[in-house]
Amino acid sequence: MGLLKIHVYPDPVLTVKSAPLTQFGASEQRLFDDMIETMYTEDGVGLAAPQVGVSKRILVASPAMKEGEEVVLVNPEIYDMKGQELGGEGCLSFPGVSVEVVRAKTIKVRYLDRYGKPQDITAHDFYARIIQHELDHLDGKLLIDRISFDQRQALLSEYNKLKELR
Ligand code: NI
Repeated sequence: MGLLKIHVYPDPVLTVKSAPLTQFGASEQRLFDDMIETMYTEDGVGLAAPQVGVSKRILVASPAMKEGEEVVLVNPEIYDMKGQELGGEGCLSFPGVSVEVVRAKTIKVRYLDRYGKPQDITAHDFYARIIQHELDHLDGKLLIDRISFDQRQALLSEYNKLKELR
């Protein structure tokens, strides 16, 4: 296992639409494990493959931030959503900033698990929010694509200030 480098805004890899994953061999298992380890090390509740420079439709999530309770979602597709809720979100690719984003409260998701087996789940609230946030990454979308022009200007100026301090 090993830690992966997190790509941060404005790295162009973050704007690429990722391709479906079709292989579930040893190197993919290792990538899943490395993504999980990286997520926990960075204190994240979710991580998408483009954030570690891999343009494949893979995300990992751990709503309780508890080792052993993480899930791997490959080629996820939301096929139903209900309700809307405004909530704060951060992103490991935007260190230091957080924004309020409207997301569906409940989603139904089809995906393949880490062994390529089809799964179908209903996710609520915080877990649903994580999946929607990470799924955006797989489509090359970021937090700044979910907020108004004015909010984006404010967020980017805050982000750039923090970047100078780092
Ligand atoms: Ni993110």
